Amino acid sequence: MTVVRVTAPGRVNLIGDHTDYTGGLVLPMVLEKRTMMEGSPTNDGIVRVSSADEAGTATFPVDVEDLETIEPRWARYVAGMVRELRHLGVPTSGFAAAITTDLPIGAGLSSSAALEIVTGRFVRALVGTDSIDDVTMALAAQRAEHRASGVPCGIMDQLCIAVGRHGTATFIDCADLSTSHVALPDTIEVDVRFVAHRTLAGSEYADRVTDCGEVERLIGPLRLATMADANTLEDDRLRRRARHVVSENQRVRDSVAAIEARDMVEFGRLMTASHRSLATDYETSTPAMDDAVDRLLTEPGVLGARMTGGGFGGCVVAIRRRA
Ligand code: GLA
Repeated sequence: MTVVRVTAPGRVNLIGDHTDYTGGLVLPMVLEKRTMMEGSPTNDGIVRVSSADEAGTATFPVDVEDLETIEPRWARYVAGMVRELRHLGVPTSGFAAAITTDLPIGAGLSSSAALEIVTGRFVRALVGTDSIDDVTMALAAQRAEHRASGVPCGIMDQLCIAVGRHGTATFIDCADLSTSHVALPDTIEVDVRFVAHRTLAGSEYADRVTDCGEVERLIGPLRLATMADANTLEDDRLRRRARHVVSENQRVRDSVAAIEARDMVEFGRLMTASHRSLATDYETSTPAMDDAVDRLLTEPGVLGARMTGGGFGGCVVAIRRRA
């Protein structure tokens, strides 16, 4: 019997949050923690998946369309990916698989994107095709996420997980989906701290996406906007949203330059500035996340700290000098 075993990591974003869905710049990196899928093909047109870390087993047909009927809910990400791949001409005739993960679930480290990509890799391996490249896989996973969770997320998580390499950050231009690997000096370490469980479904995430749409209707693409353009917005809330996105894209550019120049003090400063912008102008932090960042900044060797990912809970990330 053929046994297929694939994995996909989680991700932490070092800088560049709430920029991806307006074609901005991001600098995430993959984690060592990962999700694994192991199983075998069947020929009965049925997918059976079980998870060691989340309750239950799900069974659905390979030609699944409606994800809302699928229980338990985590299996909607699997079904969403099976559906997207089928629409891309990569159908499966059925499989039975078990999922395990050491990623914390619902902690803002992209456990759902890891589940989508691991499913994509599993189906790709079963079918034995190389016709699905990493960008196509990431875009399919993003559509699966939209359909499974209703959250209108950007491409950062799925693309970072699809192309990321251990120990290096992934610089992504979300306008053209080009990626490059940015090595971090081994004089620093990345410290990820859990603050609170959250789900972006039902959070204000979608409101921020809507705000950016409104901003772009008024001043054009945020990716091309300047601070002067942002400051022409009369509405205070929209002006602050635009200010965050424009300044965050610049901070990502400056961060890549700082890392390449091995100026980690400057990179740390940019990370902390990013947190302040997300907390005040973009309003995606929480008091507990602000406290966690402030505490980290008092610890020896810490050069910068910020919330990471969508916010409203989840994790904070810091860089520190290695002792
Ligand atoms: C979540 C989304 C990403 C991105 C971040 C914020 O992780 O899935 O697409 O928008 O929030 O940067």
